[in-house]
Amino acid sequence: MSKKLLLKDAHIEGIRYFETYRKQGGYEAAEKALKMTPDEILEEVKASGLRGRGGAGFPTGMKWSFLAKPEGVPRHLVVNADESEPGTFKDRYLMEFLPHLLIEGMLISSYCLGSNTSYIYIRGEYSWIPDILEEAIEEAKAAGFLGENILGTGFDLEIYVQRGGGAYICGEETALLESLEGKRGNPRLKPPFPAVKGLWERPTVVNNVESIAAIVPIMDITGAEYAKIGVGRSTGTKLISACGNINKPGVYEIDMTITVEEFIYSEEYCGGIPNGKKLKACIPGGSSVPIVPANLLLKTINGEPRYMNYESLADGGFATGTMMGSGGFIVLDEDQCIVEHTMTLARFYNHESCGQCTPCREGTGWMYKILKKIENGQGKMEDIDLLWDIQRKIEGNTICPLGDAAAWPVAAAIRHFRDEFEWHIKNPELSQTQNYGLANY
Ligand code: NAI
Ligand code: SF4
Repeated sequence: MSKKLLLKDAHIEGIRYFETYRKQGGYEAAEKALKMTPDEILEEVKASGLRGRGGAGFPTGMKWSFLAKPEGVPRHLVVNADESEPGTFKDRYLMEFLPHLLIEGMLISSYCLGSNTSYIYIRGEYSWIPDILEEAIEEAKAAGFLGENILGTGFDLEIYVQRGGGAYICGEETALLESLEGKRGNPRLKPPFPAVKGLWERPTVVNNVESIAAIVPIMDITGAEYAKIGVGRSTGTKLISACGNINKPGVYEIDMTITVEEFIYSEEYCGGIPNGKKLKACIPGGSSVPIVPANLLLKTINGEPRYMNYESLADGGFATGTMMGSGGFIVLDEDQCIVEHTMTLARFYNHESCGQCTPCREGTGWMYKILKKIENGQGKMEDIDLLWDIQRKIEGNTICPLGDAAAWPVAAAIRHFRDEFEWHIKNPELSQTQNYGLANY
């Protein structure tokens, strides 16, 4: 059984409220941290090996150490709670059931980074959660863990919750900052990174909800102990939101040593695939990461089992691997149509493109139209090569990663499931009447 660090108290009734959270040892990590120097906390975070849980997996300690500290300029911590990646709903779970874990993590992180005003930017569609967070903020303030001179240390901290307007692109960190400043959420060119020029051009650390929540157990057990959990550079635990064709969808905490097969089929996690269906493919890290067919999902190309961690999932690069991403684990059974699935994603990225760069603005629209044509039985064989060509021209040629995120699912679908595209083209009548693909994977 995987070790639980973040969700260990999630089952306790009333854990969302300060009193219960405190009884379970809540805010003890903050008490410990506030007796340390910011540099000592930073060393613990670096030692933990924690990697950003939003999707990119960038080392958190390294990001914090990049934070510029010019004299007299305020710094900020911004928590990215704009969780919108299709298939990803782990941060929602944390905020809804364990809001104090996030607030405590923000207190420790803000103290370490020297932020006296920190923000939570939350996805607009999570309309009921800001009230939960604001209530937790008020409770923490009443107990002396927020506000002025926290625990007599002289450190002040205010936390504000900002609701997003429902645009996926505002989860990209620089678009988020633009939106937080009250502007249209258009991504900025990087560099400069937010650590140097972020919110109102001030040094800013933008971290995912789960990354900040993980700071609490790191302070609790020390960075060195946290680094012993997991494997290699995949240290600590990771939340996985599992959905699609599985018996037990939900949010699971894993320690990144289990295999993909165990995760899908064991009763502790997804509980297998309904109706005895076969596994066809999976997208293990949210819709932006490449889809992988079952044969490459359960084993790497070298015949090794594939594990639920950053390195193993990426094994073989994009040709045979995928990415841990945000941990949005989407399972597709043998009845699912890859062309339809890819078309749905293409429509999503086309709709969510901010329109700043031509390859993304135009390319996502083209890909959607071509996929729709193929799905509806009106495609030609050369359309597959055209699709391939368009996705290649988008990848790496845009301001922000939405372009790559739109290109990768198309590339992976063609690479691994070309015969399904061809089947739609060769069987136009069936293609129009049967909304499913081949069942031989
Ligand atoms: P990125 O790799 O550009 O950056 C990762 C983080 O490291 C950023 O905070 C960046 O500012 C920082 N960083 C990188 N190099 C730096 C440097 N030299 N100096 C200072 N800071 C530096 O990736 P990005 O754009 O932040 O995230 C992309 C990922 O987000 C995708 O791979 C996808 O998996 C994920 N994603 C997650 C979503 C969700 O709902 N959780 C939604 C959409 C995408
Ligand atoms: Fe906007 Fe797409 Fe360019 Fe990102 S890649 S800045 S979403 S047009």
